[in-house]
Amino acid sequence: MERKALYAGSFDPLTNGHLNIIERAAGIYDSLTVAIVVNPQKTGFFTVEERVEIAREVTKDIPNVHIDKFSGLLADYVNDNGFAAVFRGLRATTDFENELQMAQMNARLFKGDTETIFLMTDPKYSFISSSLIKEVASLGGDVEGLVHPYVAERIRDKLNK
Ligand code: COA
Repeated sequence: MERKALYAGSFDPLTNGHLNIIERAAGIYDSLTVAIVVNPQKTGFFTVEERVEIAREVTKDIPNVHIDKFSGLLADYVNDNGFAAVFRGLRATTDFENELQMAQMNARLFKGDTETIFLMTDPKYSFISSSLIKEVASLGGDVEGLVHPYVAERIRDKLNK
């Protein structure tokens, strides 16, 4: 039976920190779904469709990665799709409390025995967040090496519009 895992988030935009987690998680499971969470209350920098497009482009060389989107509870999406695991990246101890809380709540809501698996973020990327990338880029700072070149190009295009 195929062992499927999930990595979900806003990915607005997807950073090299995310990409590093995606590559490692995809190496552990038969398939990895990267799902963009649709939050109707939040207008993002990129639309959900743009984020899906970007995620597809930057993961196109990892054959067992699939891109999707969902709205509502992560646990419902997991229960509907039978994921064996949900991956989360931990950047620093400050991420831990919130992640523990979410993992424990999700564990109650999962119908099967889905595990939440934490991967330590590569120290090269431990200080990055999507907001920081947007802030630095919008003020003319260099984000090279922190996002995929295609992401950097899409950010530039968006800022120039
Ligand atoms: N490298 C770089 N940045 C990272 C990172 C990594 N490895 N891991 C996280 N980040 C950044 C993200 O870019 C994000 O930055 P931002 O706040 O500036 O946008 C920040 O850290 C938080 O990331 P994350 O915790 O993954 O938040 P998220 O909004 O991307 O995803 C969900 C959180 C979607 C998983 C969670 O809100 C959820 O499950 N939502 C669905 C509703 C639900 O089920 N709620 C109940 C949960 S118990």
